[in-house]
Amino acid sequence: MSRDTIFPENALILQHTVFPQDQHVVRLQAPECARHAQPGMFVHIRCDAGIPMRRPISIMRSQADAGWIEILYKVIGPGLQALSSHQPGDSISILGPIGTGFRPTAERNRALLIGGGVGIPPLIFLAEKLAADAAGDWQPVGLFGSEIPFPFDLVEAADRLPGIPAQAGTALELLENIDVPSRLASQAGFSGCFEGYVTELAAAWLGALDQPDLGRVMIFSCGPTPMLQAVHALAQQFGLPDQICVEEFMACGVGGCAGCTTLVHTDTGPAMRRVCVDGPVFDGSTLGFLRHRD
Ligand SMILES: Cc1cc2nc3c(=O)[nH]c(=O)nc-3n(C[C@H](O)[C@H](O)[C@H](O)COP(=O)(O)OP(=O)(O)OC[C@H]3O[C@@H](n4cnc5c(N)ncnc54)[C@H](O)[C@@H]3O)c2cc1C
Ligand code: FES
Repeated sequence: MSRDTIFPENALILQHTVFPQDQHVVRLQAPECARHAQPGMFVHIRCDAGIPMRRPISIMRSQADAGWIEILYKVIGPGLQALSSHQPGDSISILGPIGTGFRPTAERNRALLIGGGVGIPPLIFLAEKLAADAAGDWQPVGLFGSEIPFPFDLVEAADRLPGIPAQAGTALELLENIDVPSRLASQAGFSGCFEGYVTELAAAWLGALDQPDLGRVMIFSCGPTPMLQAVHALAQQFGLPDQICVEEFMACGVGGCAGCTTLVHTDTGPAMRRVCVDGPVFDGSTLGFLRHRD
């Protein structure tokens, strides 16, 4: 169900878990947001009464029945620093869910989810959504990269994945519990992780698929710009469609100020699109900051 107007919601902090290097996972009681949230959408958060500009943060998980959402962030500046000081029992104002999210298609049911750093959250949401869709024949695989410790509980993967080296045997427990295979990459030498770029791990998996299986793959990705450029190059190498979740500076966050535009290539020529409401998810083939490498 979509909404024409997005109203602020006072969200009660239910849980606040701190992970190494100032990474935080926060569960918020926000029934309205949880009811409408889709993977790739975000919430615009008032981090503190003294900080007028809201900060956009992806929705990582959403449970409509229980009325909560979860977010993951790493403190980098004053907004998220202020947010990190809030504890369970506090309320914060959120606006959302906002944006146009991922659009998986049944004919490309092998969803390859590639996330990097604080770009991992929307892919977790997509994995959970696909796994919960019992009517669909979805076969998602999650590959995630980070140079700091992953802010998740990790386990030994139950099953092998084609093309993936056996020593990269660690998976996210969250996804393992719902039978979504995942693997991790890092250059930091973490045990059980592939030592290298997440796109190298993705290339190894794609390279092990036969042509019919390859024809059913769609790539979904979010992360730092160099990673997204490598993901798009990989999609082109294997002839695959890719959907990219873009991060851009935002002011209003709801389509009113044009402060978040990005260059896209349309059928009628180049155009500027608002990341907050026209995105944040765009087809990789249309994005100017990816296409300049084509
Ligand atoms: C749709 C969307 C979803 C996001 N989801 C998440 C998420 O799930 N978890 C998370 O940790 N972060 C996420 N971000 C990024 C986060 O909103 C910004 O980093 C935010 O500015 C942090 O606020 P701050 O006050 O802590 O830092 P600020 O003081 O705002 O910024 C600190 C530094 O980061 C740089 N910066 C700020 N915003 C951006 C940006 N959008 N792109 C590139 N550089 C930037 C600035 O140059 C500055 O040096 C998302 C952004 C968008 C647009
Ligand atoms: S932030 Fe104002 S239009 Fe996107």
